[in-house]
Amino acid sequence: MNTTAPFAAACALLLLAAIPVHADTEQTLGSLLFSDPNLSLRRNQSCASCHSLVPANGRETGQPLIAPGFVDPGNVENGSPVSGGSVSGQFGKLNAPSVGYAAFSPEFHWDNTRAAYVGGQFWNGRATNLQAQAAMPFLNPAEMAMPSRWAVVTRLKENATYRQLFNDVFGINLDDLPANDLAPATSPPPAGVLAAFDAAAQTISEFERGATFNQFTSKFDYWLAGMTSLSANELNGFNLFKKKARCATCHLSSSGIDRQGNMIPPLFTDFTYANLGLPRNVSIPGNPAPDPGLGGRAEIAAASPGGAELGKHKVMSLRNIALTPPYGHNGVFATLDQITHFYNTRDVLGRVAASTDAGFGVIGWPAPEVPQNINTANVGDLGLTQQEEADVVAFMKTLTDNYPATGQDPNVPPGTPSPFANLAIPAIPTRLGLGAPAVISLTGRLGKYYRLEFADSLTGTNHWQPFSTNRFGANGMLFPDPTAVLPATRFYRAVQLP
Ligand code: HEC
Ligand code: HEC
Repeated sequence: MNTTAPFAAACALLLLAAIPVHADTEQTLGSLLFSDPNLSLRRNQSCASCHSLVPANGRETGQPLIAPGFVDPGNVENGSPVSGGSVSGQFGKLNAPSVGYAAFSPEFHWDNTRAAYVGGQFWNGRATNLQAQAAMPFLNPAEMAMPSRWAVVTRLKENATYRQLFNDVFGINLDDLPANDLAPATSPPPAGVLAAFDAAAQTISEFERGATFNQFTSKFDYWLAGMTSLSANELNGFNLFKKKARCATCHLSSSGIDRQGNMIPPLFTDFTYANLGLPRNVSIPGNPAPDPGLGGRAEIAAASPGGAELGKHKVMSLRNIALTPPYGHNGVFATLDQITHFYNTRDVLGRVAASTDAGFGVIGWPAPEVPQNINTANVGDLGLTQQEEADVVAFMKTLTDNYPATGQDPNVPPGTPSPFANLAIPAIPTRLGLGAPAVISLTGRLGKYYRLEFADSLTGTNHWQPFSTNRFGANGMLFPDPTAVLPATRFYRAVQLP
């Protein structure tokens, strides 16, 4: 794959071509870090604690579900909306979403065509991409609760396998870095520590881009590939999902095409943000104030006069949705039936006082927790019958991975590979910038080799000339171009070497 990102500056236009390399060793390291409880304050919690890699037990049956949902198995089993942290008594305020298919969310940005914010990670998109996201749970007091990045790197140093793999993958020698267990955030870390921490976040994001989290082995995928059929109820549910129930306006159900020309099956999200008018969940420990979502971020609030983004949360993918109850950013809905009934009847059912009311979702819904910007165009009064709601739910249950092993479908026997196994999962983009005139700065893949090249014209042949090849050790590294004569227009690119 070649990616090109044009970059305009006062006297130079920069071009970039990145050739991705095999990421197996890096994903191995990422998978180890993802499941390592030693990277939390009390050595009792890892990413996998809240984004489990093994199937959770179903609430009704107590038996393992048919695939991992990459959410907190305690929430699935007990219906609790939020997760406890490494420090006992600490709770988050939001429901842990699935890491499955999260890699497909584009970098957080404002989309001019749609006039909407798109992409990012978290319910409010505050992490621009998976790598930025992976750096955050370590330091969140309600999650892994480490005091600083230096303290995390000190834990990495303890492990002989990490010492070996950091060397192999990144050329980083953890032994060279001074230890400081529980270094406070106020202690400036010595040189090399922040690069090691960034490398850990990068390697976790590589793991999250891998096959574990992006299987495309649901019944729906095999149906899309023409290998099996949906039941009458599932098919009716899919048609309702696209038309009468309007779900597909936000949970897109059409396919796309990747850069290689492969079909990208539907991800059931457009990665935008909306306020559905969810009721407050008064069962969250400490009964926190309603979450303001996208519009609660200071920079978004500043750019959105009148609170135009308040109450909006990210449209989540519906892949594996049957495995990840409870539902919504505050986990206020216990089941798929309940959230579907909410979409259908929010504006017509009636009012109950609170989410703990016995009549919740039966005789009425509580008032929306954030009253601004509520979507009334596609949500709230759909006119679905009870059977139609049930069919929409039956359709959503076809989005669960691991169908060959569990579907008992002679057309898709155990071991059948995903019809979309060759799909390229979006990479975190590499960027060139100007550090100063004729000084190139690079944000890219740590540990990889890049050849920096310039051209004074892009017409004719052989215009690209290398001026430096480097193993990339820290984001924002600067690369002076010793041959530049200023002022002149010069083109640059960075080629990632295999
Ligand atoms: C204590 C539970 C907990 C732990 C531990 C935890 N997470 Fe999460 N995760 C959450 C919650 C809760 C959210 C949603 C928070 C928000 O939106 O503000 C979340 C959100 C995410 C998302 C965003 C998904 C999306 O679609 O927007 C990703 C990716 C993720 N976590 C990965 C990780 C990684 C990687 C780690 C380990 C470094 C980790 N999490 C550790 C609870 C946890
Ligand atoms: C206006 C856009 C929009 C429409 C239309 C829409 N959704 Fe959603 N959906 C969202 C957003 C935004 C969220 C997250 C909202 C929140 O938690 O505050 C969401 C969340 C969900 C969730 C829970 C996801 C999770 O990880 O907890 C399910 C299930 C769901 N939608 C199903 C449906 C179904 C079924 C329909 C049609 C009946 C539908 N949606 C229509 C935007 C939409």
